[in-house]
Amino acid sequence: MRVVVTGGAGYIGSHVVHALRRAGHEPHVLDDLSNGHADAIAGVPFEAGDVTAPGTLADLVRRIDARAILHFAARIQVGESVARPDLYYGTNVGGMLRVAEVASQARIPVVLSSTAAVYGVPVELPIPVSHPCRPESPYGWSKLMSERMLADCARAAGFPYAVLRYFNAAGADVEAGLRERHAPETHLVPLAIEAALGNGRALKLFGSDWPTVDGTCLRDYVHVMDLADAHLKALDRLVGGTPAITVNLGGGRGTTVREVIDAVARAVGRPVPTEIGPRRAGDVASLVADVSEARNLLGWSPTRRSEIGQVVEDAVAVIRLRA
Ligand SMILES: NC(=O)c1ccc[n+]([C@@H]2O[C@H](COP(=O)([O-])OP(=O)(O)OC[C@H]3O[C@@H](n4cnc5c(N)ncnc54)[C@H](O)[C@@H]3O)[C@@H](O)[C@H]2O)c1
Repeated sequence: MRVVVTGGAGYIGSHVVHALRRAGHEPHVLDDLSNGHADAIAGVPFEAGDVTAPGTLADLVRRIDARAILHFAARIQVGESVARPDLYYGTNVGGMLRVAEVASQARIPVVLSSTAAVYGVPVELPIPVSHPCRPESPYGWSKLMSERMLADCARAAGFPYAVLRYFNAAGADVEAGLRERHAPETHLVPLAIEAALGNGRALKLFGSDWPTVDGTCLRDYVHVMDLADAHLKALDRLVGGTPAITVNLGGGRGTTVREVIDAVARAVGRPVPTEIGPRRAGDVASLVADVSEARNLLGWSPTRRSEIGQVVEDAVAVIRLRA
């Protein structure tokens, strides 16, 4: 099936693009390369453009007669969203509006990248999809607003959609030589690897007095290839007639920052230099996904590659391949 992948040159998008091709689909990428890499999608049909620009997405969908849109394009830094909410609403909500307009017109399925940040401070763990949504940042709000716009437009125009709320994506497609390369990088696994390899600064820990087993924050890591697999399954379900899907995608278990650091030290064969700083505003002690809707609605579960040891080994393997 011919599909448009917005943000397909980015970390998760490029992994999904490769998975789509392996499954026999024909992805066309729309990305402005503000945080993506053309070399991650070498050989894939690619249009450089801004998804928020009127007409850009509509023209592409019409030209290639796309049968679905997978929407990854977004600004992704929580901290930056607090300082510059205008940029986040502009790109994330503005981009979603274009996607919703085009899908309403063409009546084609949409898969949206959403986030655990829509929940805010958890009142129960693991976090079910039915958990209240009270985002703590403009980033989280921009995604919750996007979800709402998508649901309203889908209901009115009659196109199917899936909202996939990712927890912490990590790992890499070693065979395809893909990896996580954000600029600036704010994610723990690549930062810890760079610190262990001596390429970065000491890894800063934001607090060591959290109410967790070792005092560091507990998060739910999911292998990016498991995420890619969930996108294929969501697309299949939408094409098969399911009208609306909202699921959490996580590994379904918590791993502390210290446990990630230990896994990185084992995989790299060197300790991770660390520096303990104060807690970061807006952080919470623990976030863990309840993935039962993904199991029930998509027939998806995280595999063993979402165990932190494998996630980190794959991330290290690709960095070493490229060094
Ligand atoms: N990485 C995670 O752990 C995580 C967790 C939850 C949700 N998400 C969501 O998943 C999606 C992908 O995240 P990622 O980590 O791959 O980020 P990324 O920054 O690597 O990818 C985003 C891509 O979108 C492109 N882009 C940004 N603005 C654009 C615009 N206006 N027009 C066209 N392209 C544009 C960027 O160039 C980049 O290639 C995002 O929507 C993000 O909010 C990511």
